[in-house]
Amino acid sequence: MERTRILGTGSAVPSRILRNAELEKLVDTSDEWITSRTGISERRVCSAGEDTATLAEQAALKALEAAALDPMDLDLILVATITPAMPFPATACLLQDGLGARRAAALDVSAACSGFIYGLAVADNFIRTGMYRTVLLVGAETLSLLTDWSDRNTCVLFGDGAGAVVLQGQRGGRGVLSTHLYSDGSQWGLLMAPGGGSRHPISSPEVLAQRLNTIKMPNGNEVFRTAVRAMEDACISALKHNHLEISDVDVVVPHQANARIIQALTYRLSLPPEKVIANIARHGNTSAASVPLALDEAVRTGKVHDGNLVLLVAFGGGLTWGSAAIRW
Ligand code: ACO
Repeated sequence: MERTRILGTGSAVPSRILRNAELEKLVDTSDEWITSRTGISERRVCSAGEDTATLAEQAALKALEAAALDPMDLDLILVATITPAMPFPATACLLQDGLGARRAAALDVSAACSGFIYGLAVADNFIRTGMYRTVLLVGAETLSLLTDWSDRNTCVLFGDGAGAVVLQGQRGGRGVLSTHLYSDGSQWGLLMAPGGGSRHPISSPEVLAQRLNTIKMPNGNEVFRTAVRAMEDACISALKHNHLEISDVDVVVPHQANARIIQALTYRLSLPPEKVIANIARHGNTSAASVPLALDEAVRTGKVHDGNLVLLVAFGGGLTWGSAAIRW
């Protein structure tokens, strides 16, 4: 049976580091509050010349190098993002052009912080049905451009970055074992950038006056509670589906939204903390980039070994959430 193997990973972040001390000058906050409530010390933000497509390309080139493949080997390019470089064409098309991957089809996937898991499910199904063999999946975001830098409730949380994987259908027991996806559209108002689309066009005065094109999170506590519950459920679904126990899991790569969310998930699943990857202190919440960025860092620092059971899990705006179980 063919499974979807991850042949290579890569990541990229902007060079500019935004530390908590700089945010103290923008809003009424403190390094102590941000680190104790979120676990974030710094994040990367784009400068002129950097955007979602340029970050995606840097991450993709590293993943292709790790996979020892050429852009012309790619059949499909998926970019998971809620901060595309342009409203259209898809950032995946800009990435295709940058890479010179002329054989590939290209499209974007929009599922906020769960975008990478959603993209992995799309890629896995294309591969297992035999439609495509080799797929590049990138989670890439520039949330700094959607951030309201006068809103202390949100501006401390987000960062920019990209993570990529090269996937290929191969025979054998290794690869993606399962993906589980969930959405609750009735809760869309918990986390959103309501302006800038066709409902509240960017040109309307109210969008600019109320900064409706920036991230709104009216109830962070509710998001926190729901995130912990949903990610726990998604992990349990993945384990049950594969007839596995929590003790079978070697590495968990959770979405990096808040260190306390990751700690709560670790506690509720009775996971040894050393099995749970956390890089939020250096990157903040990079939305769809967070899981592949953390995965790439884990791979490159030798935390993921052949044969390991790796669990990816994410939660985000939509609401959307999901998990993926992978035999590495
Ligand atoms: N600096 C100082 N004070 C702040 C800041 C800040 N940056 N932000 C909020 N506060 C204040 C609030 O105004 C409030 O003050 P008040 O009591 O006078 O009203 C106080 O701190 C406590 O606010 P809470 O919202 O209760 O703080 P909490 O401990 O819940 O932390 C946080 C807030 C960090 C947003 C948390 O709820 C959280 O992480 N929620 C998850 C949301 C999230 O991660 N969203 C990102 C996208 S979704 C996803 O990826 C999962």
